[in-house]
Parts: sequence; structure tokens; C-alpha cells
Amino acid sequence: MLQNINPVTTNAWKTLEQHYEVMKSKHMIDMFAVDPNRFSKYSLQFRNMLVDYSKNIINDQTLEALLALAEESQLKDAIERMFSGEKINLRENRAVLHVALRNCSNDPVYEDGEDVMPAVNQVLEQMKAFSDKIGAGELLGYTGKPIENIVNIGIGGSDLGPYMVTEALKPYQRENLKLYFVSNVDGTHIAETLKKVDPETTLFMIASKTFTTQETMTNAESAKKWFLEHAKNEAEVAKHFVAISTNLEAVKKFGIAEENMFVFWDWVGGRYSLWSSIGLSIACAIGFDKYKELLEGAHAMDQHFRTTHFDKNIPVLLALIGIWYVNFFGAHTEAILPYDQYMHRFPAYFQQGNMESNGKYIDRDGNQVTYSTGPVIWGEPGTNGQHAFYQLIHQGTQLIPCDFLAPAISQNPIGDHHAKLLSNFFAQTEALMNGKTLQDVIAELKADGLTDEEIQELAPFKVFTGNRPTNSILFKKLDPFTLGSLIAMYEHKIFVQGVIWNIFSFDQWGVELGKQLAKKVLPELVNDDEIQAHDSSTNGLINAYKEMRK
Ligand code: F6P
Repeated sequence: MLQNINPVTTNAWKTLEQHYEVMKSKHMIDMFAVDPNRFSKYSLQFRNMLVDYSKNIINDQTLEALLALAEESQLKDAIERMFSGEKINLRENRAVLHVALRNCSNDPVYEDGEDVMPAVNQVLEQMKAFSDKIGAGELLGYTGKPIENIVNIGIGGSDLGPYMVTEALKPYQRENLKLYFVSNVDGTHIAETLKKVDPETTLFMIASKTFTTQETMTNAESAKKWFLEHAKNEAEVAKHFVAISTNLEAVKKFGIAEENMFVFWDWVGGRYSLWSSIGLSIACAIGFDKYKELLEGAHAMDQHFRTTHFDKNIPVLLALIGIWYVNFFGAHTEAILPYDQYMHRFPAYFQQGNMESNGKYIDRDGNQVTYSTGPVIWGEPGTNGQHAFYQLIHQGTQLIPCDFLAPAISQNPIGDHHAKLLSNFFAQTEALMNGKTLQDVIAELKADGLTDEEIQELAPFKVFTGNRPTNSILFKKLDPFTLGSLIAMYEHKIFVQGVIWNIFSFDQWGVELGKQLAKKVLPELVNDDEIQAHDSSTNGLINAYKEMRK
């Protein structure tokens, strides 16, 4: 069992509280000025990836105290418990073994006394055979034409992961295949997608761990109905529908045969499932070998995370620095800012990854926490974000720690686009740290020929306090291996924070509540009765909705 340690009762927490009183008035510029080695001291290399965490409001004492917090929280022990298949998802009585899905060493991993690797490898083989067949144009639809479109129907972890990865790895995508993702129960999503595909050449992947999720099953039924309107023969469903799930009975009930099912297991959390057969659309899109490289990249990060001393351990350091801001500086949000258009869904992916994992106020003892836990995660690709919300990051009243991510080599080396893109990356992180002093502003305005009176009026608006923290994550190229490492890096960061915050990161009761309540309301929308079962606002809204539809 994970040790239940309330972080605020640790010695390290008290040290950090005192240390914050010193650090809150320190400016990063001064810390850089006195320490010429700050960059080399506070940056780490992992394969082709450089992680620079020097632009943070930290010094050696900060890191020492944060590392002590990790020690006192028994982090090492928690990591081993996860990797060794212990049921650390206690409230669902499940192991947390997404690391086994990318365990390229193939060393045994035991869950309930049984090595999971043979089953993992068997499904990988099945995925390989299937994706090879698609790649070779040998998977044929009901009229004998090869499958050219894949529509993945899923939601949450059964959508965001494959969607984010296939977008990020588009340059590696096979040319004979088009991919679509349908998640929203809003009929528009499936309707607009079906307009683009041909039933004769389309394969639907119904991706749902439980195979009961309302959104997914509704979309799957609509897709099947649409398909049968064209194929007119129930037997042809087998050629156009596959299921990815843990629930064989529900899959069979839907009408998909067992041989068209790709299984995974309850020890794979939904938001950690792209490494399982939920990644089938990825394997089909980029080919199995490249999908394997994605797994290898994640595995390499797993090894780094499991075996590297915490003071050089990238996910651990990123997690600790995050805790420093959330719990001592009072930061409420964190931005993920990829300077790579292909990574446009990366922040959204980790919105689920992080917020569904660590958005909890009950600790592992069942008590309400007295400290902040998971921050709001958000972000957009640079440079679009710069022209939208960076104003608030630079001059707003909130401290927003940001992660900047970028490849050194673009997949699309057109003219000087990439140099321009990256010059924005470097300039932004520098400006967020340095800010702009009143003196500099005055000098600048003087040089522009403004009068003293004009300068006095305008100057305060042009001052930037700076000292806004950023991590810079620079990698050679966004290839499958690197993407795998990046995803695993953030997954482990989330894990570390959950351990220290003493919460359960692998359940999601908050989402379950929404699912239950929607089921209760649905029948009320389809009858003609006036609804009185709720509060006056909810009754009023439901009744107004029904009235408007008359
Ligand atoms: O959003 C809640 C959740 O349970 C996620 O954890 C999961 O990824 C998603 O629903 C989809 O669930 P399923 O794969 O069972 O359809």
C-alpha cells in the first residue's frame, strides 16, 4: 500500500514554508547574475531532449527542501509499488500498469501473481498483424475495396490519446489512410464525419474500456445504422467494425465478433491507455514499427524515472517545481505551450491526464486536504497563444508557470519559418524572466521622442515585473520515440505530484457522478411532463428547453 503521509506534516514542508518567505522576493535575474553556472546546473539532457529548469524561482536550498519532501513522502517506495504491479489504485482495487504496455525489456511484470507480459505481447502481435494488413491495402470492405478511412469512436482517454498522437506524428502517417475521431455525443460530430467517408472503405474502431460509455455507444450505434443503410446486410458489420475494450460481453452484444476485438485490462487507466490496444488507430496510421518506437521512447523515460536519483530525475524535478508553485506561491494553473503545430492537442491531452488524475480534494486517508492539489492545465501552440493569452502571463496578477516545448528541427523546413518560430520561444522565456524595468521603459520612450509628461503617463503600463517561471523542453525532432518520452515524462510528473499530495491519482469519481446524473435527466427530456424533481433553476431550464422545442 502507498504510505499515507500528509505533506504538510513533513519537516520538508515546514522548511519550504520558511524558505518561501526568503524566496518570494528574489528575482531570477539576480540569481542568474551571481551564478554563471545556473543553466548547466539546472538543466538535464535525456537522449535528444534538453530540459532547462533554470528559469524558475529556485536555488540549491529550494531543490534540497523539495527533494527532502520527496524522500519524506516515500516517493521511491511509491514508484516501485507502481512498477511492480501493486494495486495502488486502492479505491478501484486495481494495479496501475500502463508501464507494462511499453515494457520493451519484456522483463516479467506481475499483477495478482501473474506475468502480464505474454498477454501484452499477444495483443501487440494482433495489432501488428492488423495494422500491417491495413498498410498493405489488404483489409477489404464489403464491396472488396481496401479500407482507406478509419473512424475512431471513443471519448476521454479512448479518444484524446490516439487523436493527440496521430496529429503529432502526422508526418509519419501512411498516405493510403485517412483518420477521423468522433467523441462528442453532439450528433454534429458523427454527422459531419460521416459526410466525409465512404461506407465501402471505412473501418470504425469502437474504443471504450467499459463499452458502456453513453457518448461512445450512441455514436457507435449511429455509425452502425448509417453503415447498414448502405451495406444492407448485418453480416458485413464484421468487415467494418472492430472493438477495443475490456468488456467482451458488451462487445458481443453490440454485434462485434470476438475475433474483431482488441482487448486490454482493467489495470490500464483510461487516460493512460494509448499504450494499449486503444493505440490501434496510431499503429494503423503510422505503421507498427513506428508505433513501437513510440512505446520505446516511453519505456526509456520509464527507466530514467525508475532508476535515476531524484536530483537528476526529470519527471521528479518537474513535479517538485510544480508543487513549489502550487503550494507555496499559490499558483492555480499551469500552461503547456508547444511550439510545434503538430502538437496542437498536447495541452488538451494533459488537461485530462493531469486534471482527471490530480483534481481531488480527498486525501488517501479519506480526509479533506488542507492544501492545494492539481492545478488547472491549459495551453495552445505558440505562437498563436502569444497573440491570445500571453498578455496575462506577462502582466496579469496570477503567477502561471509555463512549459515551453519545441523541436530544433521542423518537419516542414520552409524558408525561415522555424527560425522565426523558435526565436519567439526563446524571446518569450527570456522576457517572462527578465521583464522590463521602469528605467528601461523611460529610456526607450525618450529615444522614441516622447515628452516627459507623455513618458510619465505611459511608462507604468509598459513595465513588466518579469520573474515569471518557465521550463524549456527542447528536443531534436518530434519523432515517435521523442513523443513517447515526452508523454511518459508528464505522466510520471503527475504520478509524483499525486503521491506527494497524498491523493489517489488513478480513479475519477468526479466524472462518474456526471455520467450518473445525465442518465437520470435523459428520460425527463423525452416526455411531455412539466419537471419538478430538481431545484428551481434546473427545473426551469429543463422546462424552458421542452417549451422551446414545441
Ligand atoms: O472521462 C471519464 C472516463 O472514465 C475516462 O477515464 C475514460 O478515458 C473515459 O471516461 C472513457 O471511458 P471508456 O473508455 O470506458 O469509454
